[in-house]
Amino acid sequence: MSYFEPDAELLAASDAALASINVGRLLPAATTFDVHDPATEQVIASLPDHTPADALIALTKADAAGKEWAKTSPRKRSDVLHAVYAKLIENKDTLAYVISREMGKPLAEGYAEVQYSADYVRWFAEEALRAQGLYRDSPAGDATILVRRSPVGNAVLIAPWNFPMAMATRKIAPALAAGCACVVKPANLTPLTTVIVLDLMIQAGVPEDLVQVITTTDAPGFSSTLLADQRVRKISFTGSTPVGSTLMGLAAKNIVKSSMELGGNAPLLVFDDADLERAVEGAILAKMRNGGQTCVAANRMFIQSGIADAFVEKFTAAMAAHKLGNAMNKETTLGPVIDDRAVKRLQHLVDDAVAKGATLLTGGKSPDRPGHFFEPTVLDNVPANADIATTEIFGPVAAISRFDTQEEVIAKANDTEFGLAAFVFTQDLDRAINVAEALETGMVGINNGLLSNIAAPFGGVKASGTGREGGAEGLDEYQEIRYFTMKRRETH
Ligand code: SIN
Repeated sequence: MSYFEPDAELLAASDAALASINVGRLLPAATTFDVHDPATEQVIASLPDHTPADALIALTKADAAGKEWAKTSPRKRSDVLHAVYAKLIENKDTLAYVISREMGKPLAEGYAEVQYSADYVRWFAEEALRAQGLYRDSPAGDATILVRRSPVGNAVLIAPWNFPMAMATRKIAPALAAGCACVVKPANLTPLTTVIVLDLMIQAGVPEDLVQVITTTDAPGFSSTLLADQRVRKISFTGSTPVGSTLMGLAAKNIVKSSMELGGNAPLLVFDDADLERAVEGAILAKMRNGGQTCVAANRMFIQSGIADAFVEKFTAAMAAHKLGNAMNKETTLGPVIDDRAVKRLQHLVDDAVAKGATLLTGGKSPDRPGHFFEPTVLDNVPANADIATTEIFGPVAAISRFDTQEEVIAKANDTEFGLAAFVFTQDLDRAINVAEALETGMVGINNGLLSNIAAPFGGVKASGTGREGGAEGLDEYQEIRYFTMKRRETH
């Protein structure tokens, strides 16, 4: 398959963006670690490698700033977040270049992520004003009940590498809107964008110590140290289920409020009565956004027998039409996967499925060149015993199997410990609702391959996590409900 080399002008502009990163907002550290471009494997920056002791210094600073921030008015917090939104948009070129260089996604997706991330900040600037309380009479009428929401306290926010900016702002913005301070740990594979966001937030008026960013290769040391400290009252994590489970165990010691956005194994169901064009378009989006590296990506595609041949033909053509290349080429529609481990995992999943009887329709391997690339791949007739049927793929590989009845496909779709997302394509309104309700997931896309929306409560059930991000619910995660009661008596 051909490869789209970087464009010299875009490469130079992105190099300039990387060179402009202000690391002066970070705490100093004794050592550094390197950040790589996954398309070339070249080092693009080095950052302080903070220790758990540094994380405690950060917490002390955040804690002091947070005590003042918690006293600010909702209007003040809203105004600061609106200013942050404007600052992020003003710097969208720098942010998009750096997202695409450190994570590898095509530049157009880098820009889309900047807008998506900034929109979370604007959304929570608006939600900051709407944190509602309640005034209620006791049933006997002898007491008044006042219910209010208070900031939960210092938040530890751990973001993943796949959306280096959006997953950070989806956590930081509601924390600030609610009146909390935070210590943020970006993934060590993609920490650069968060460093820029921190700088821009402070430029926009966020108090200097309120948001702390810890860049570190010692993720376990970071979380175990902070979660052992009673000043931490909240943890929000996006990542794998095993790590989420460990963090919940650590959080249990001090009864720390937890939001966990964990692994997925999303089924995508296409019924015979679906609109073929819409189903293919939606399936491509559900599978290939971010190169398949999202926790909501369509992991198991179940296509009903009557539409299957037509769907598979069109879907395979659309997959094969992707242009593999460097993010700094505007033609590129599919960048690298994040690292060599991901390439090896994808190769194993494809080889294992084929060995167990799946049909390889396109792609199937990593091209022989530098960088962590994997071809857009379609496997048909994937057997239930293939590893790919139970593993989160996290890459540009589609695993298709066929089904006959609604009952059969619902049972297959729910036959997983995960419950993050599902997609249903049908033109029958009754079927759409009946199937969506039967699927054991936190989110269902109906004739829609895109679940991500700032106004929606993003999150899963079962082993896919607990808590919600975005929507009005995203603010609840950073608040405690308290109530006051006042005894009433007659006055004259
Ligand atoms: C993810 O967490 O992988 C997906 C995030 C999103 O689509 O908002």
